[in-house]
Amino acid sequence: MTVDSEPTETLLDWLREERGLTGTKEGCNEGDCGACTVMVRDPNGARALNACILFLPQLEGKSVVTVEGLAAPDGTPHPVQDAMVAHHGSQCGFCTPGFVVSMATAHLNGATDHDDQLAGNLCRCTGYAPIIRAAEAVEGVPIPAHLMVPVDQPHDGPGDDLFPDAVRPRNADQLAAWYDANPEATLVAGATDVGLWVTKQLRDLAPVAFLNRCDDLKSIEIRSNDVHIGAMASLSEVLEAIKPLHPDFAEMLRRYGSAQVRNAATVGGNIANGSPIGDSPPALIALGAVLHLRKGNERRSLPLEAFFIEYGRQDRAPGEFVEAVSFPRQLDRLKCYKLSKRFDQDISAVCGCFNITIEGSVVATARIAFGGMAGTPKRASSVEAALIGKAWSEETVRHAMGAFKEDYTPLSDMRASANYRLVSAENMLLRYYLEDQGTSTRVLEVRA
Ligand SMILES: Cc1cc2nc3c(=O)[nH]c(=O)nc-3n(C[C@H](O)[C@H](O)[C@H](O)COP(=O)(O)OP(=O)(O)OC[C@H]3O[C@@H](n4cnc5c(N)ncnc54)[C@H](O)[C@@H]3O)c2cc1C
Ligand code: FES
Ligand code: FES
Repeated sequence: MTVDSEPTETLLDWLREERGLTGTKEGCNEGDCGACTVMVRDPNGARALNACILFLPQLEGKSVVTVEGLAAPDGTPHPVQDAMVAHHGSQCGFCTPGFVVSMATAHLNGATDHDDQLAGNLCRCTGYAPIIRAAEAVEGVPIPAHLMVPVDQPHDGPGDDLFPDAVRPRNADQLAAWYDANPEATLVAGATDVGLWVTKQLRDLAPVAFLNRCDDLKSIEIRSNDVHIGAMASLSEVLEAIKPLHPDFAEMLRRYGSAQVRNAATVGGNIANGSPIGDSPPALIALGAVLHLRKGNERRSLPLEAFFIEYGRQDRAPGEFVEAVSFPRQLDRLKCYKLSKRFDQDISAVCGCFNITIEGSVVATARIAFGGMAGTPKRASSVEAALIGKAWSEETVRHAMGAFKEDYTPLSDMRASANYRLVSAENMLLRYYLEDQGTSTRVLEVRA
């Protein structure tokens, strides 16, 4: 890496143009196809990431393995490469480097949920069955010795001279002080949004601060009273931490982008971007989440739903950033329903999250929040009011379904019509009720 590399140069451009490592392919250049997948390692493990939306400063203290580095030093192919040949997993070959890097990363991590691991890799000609067969064939095959070498702890030193045009705070205190003095700056967390501002909109982000060295913003604490998630926790980390507590939230996050996207995207970015179709805010709002903001040394907390004022406007002052989000420990009553045109790697048309508690046979509490139904993630206050204190019955539910139109006036766009959104939202409440009565409503089960 040269000292004069631009801080917003992507790893993909650097590999291909400055290092001649053209095995890593450029397909979409926006995180959707996985042709650019690389393996990124640090002392915490190995992750597959999309090089096209990964800026060089995000790699500080990490080691990158590209497709060129999968074979052993003596040229022996990696077992997944052999398996792809044996199982006819490649035709034109354009997608193949990305697939084998994802497969080798899953192999290194002992992950055998191949459909999920490969959901972010698109192939237009071979078809997925031979590729999944190849992935299955290497389950349990020893990891090649050259990938077993541990990655050193990052150390301070010459790295500080790299990227003189980018600020890389080492902790939340440094970030707070600098951002307060430079409120016009762009913060970069996982870059799964910001990366596209550069690759697709050709925007100049300067001045820019990278948050990836702020380890104190990455912790996830499951405490006796609450769950506290640092802004820089990745969606992959949130998924694993939340699984034992709220499995349906984790199941929804399994459909958030792809493994590569979840490995980069942070919960802070998913909230701070204010998107009306971000997937984590509705679930967090339904859980009663509180957002923790910081500006300089001033901290404040507010209910997450209050952060989203209107489309494109959040309750965040210049120089203020998201430090964490937390929600109370509670009995798991959360269900999350994500409607999208594709099962994997697709943004929600509607995302409904329901958290309804029953005492005796009466609705005691109800927190319901939706994405895709308004200009912001938004609670269904009228529906909640129509439920609370009533008998938990189909009659109550069908009556409450009529209140959705008081809470939401959805738009028609390329993802769904307004009417589809409204009817789907109403039916999600009925689905929650029926599932609660033991009716099976999850019919999707397609396996290669
Ligand atoms: C292929 C692909 C698929 C996707 N699929 C989904 C999906 O299924 N569901 C979904 O919800 N989203 C999806 N996204 C969108 C994206 O992953 C999310 O919005 C993501 O959470 C953004 O987080 P990030 O860490 O990458 O943020 P970044 O891109 O780094 O930043 C996003 C915004 O938040 C700001 N920001 C980041 N952190 C902070 C902070 N701590 N304090 C204040 N401001 C901050 C940045 O300045 C920027 O304005 C997808 C994106 C891609 C490219
Ligand atoms: S080139 Fe398509 S995900 Fe990077
Ligand atoms: S082999 Fe051609 S795109 Fe996958």
